[in-house]
Amino acid sequence: MSRATATAHPNIALIKYWGKRDLGLNLPAVGSLSLTLDRFHTTTQVTWGAPRDEVHLNGSPAASSFARKVLAHLDRIDPHRPPCAVDTHNSFPTAAGLASSASGFAALTLAGIVAAGLLYDPIRASILARQGSGSACRSLWGGFVRWHRGTRADGQDSHGEPVAGPDHWDVRMVVALVTSAQKAVGSTEGMIRTRRSSPYYPTWVETSEADLSEGLAAVQARDLERLGTAMERSTYKMHATMHTAEPPILYWQPATVAVLHTVAALRQRGVGAWCTMDAGPNVKILCEAADAHAVARAVGEQVQQVEILGPGGDPTVEIE
Ligand code: DP6
Repeated sequence: MSRATATAHPNIALIKYWGKRDLGLNLPAVGSLSLTLDRFHTTTQVTWGAPRDEVHLNGSPAASSFARKVLAHLDRIDPHRPPCAVDTHNSFPTAAGLASSASGFAALTLAGIVAAGLLYDPIRASILARQGSGSACRSLWGGFVRWHRGTRADGQDSHGEPVAGPDHWDVRMVVALVTSAQKAVGSTEGMIRTRRSSPYYPTWVETSEADLSEGLAAVQARDLERLGTAMERSTYKMHATMHTAEPPILYWQPATVAVLHTVAALRQRGVGAWCTMDAGPNVKILCEAADAHAVARAVGEQVQQVEILGPGGDPTVEIE
């Protein structure tokens, strides 16, 4: 029996991943770029060689669909594995558009590899994490991370790559939590429906490479206006494909739209702040560290809760 505990941070996409070129391997239709966050984290302990397979989430036995996904992921690490016990905790609401699947599968991959006694190679780990949940392949590093779309059918060239560390740029993500309720349509289902039925999906795929190049250049130059503009463009295009799917997928709540207007008004007053949203109603606002409290105050009354997060570091692992 051996045991390892890993901690990984969620990441928020600045240039979005939406759509798969291969469903089974979670190969993306587009490349993406993210920022790993500090403070929020998933901590996962894997016991390799337990009396039976067992999965706990936030202190309680996990729902069977969640447990199946977790155990199937350990099978990817070693198809001949012994029974394993997994105990995982999120320091933030699960499945509310705050990327718990990203930090979750990153921490599970790392703890699983180390508990199994395998050599840790971040690129290999990123390829494995991607198969659990696409965005998880970006949480294997801190700071700004690019996920390569890749072209190979086996996915060996589709993984994360660190672009700039957490100290590169002192930006903030102000997370405006509209609700912590579980989302009605999960990302995977949403991507399948969008690809199948939105007339805008081909345009989304065709134009996203240019957004990615723009985002990467903006990060290198520490140009917030350039990055924020590309980020909002990527977000609105992604949500346009959701809104035009059949049946449509509308994650936005009235408070989501209120926050979008507030941030646009802040910009009119000279505050550099830009919005992004994922598969949920919450809004994440990118701004300079010096503006974060003013942004949080401006949107605070419109939502349930506001959190200010900065760039986070690499995941960590301890073996017991
Ligand atoms: C909207 O990584 O959760 O947050 O690969 O199906 O598990 P699966 O999806 P997931 O999708 C995240 C989509 C997004 C945008 C992003 O994070 O890039």
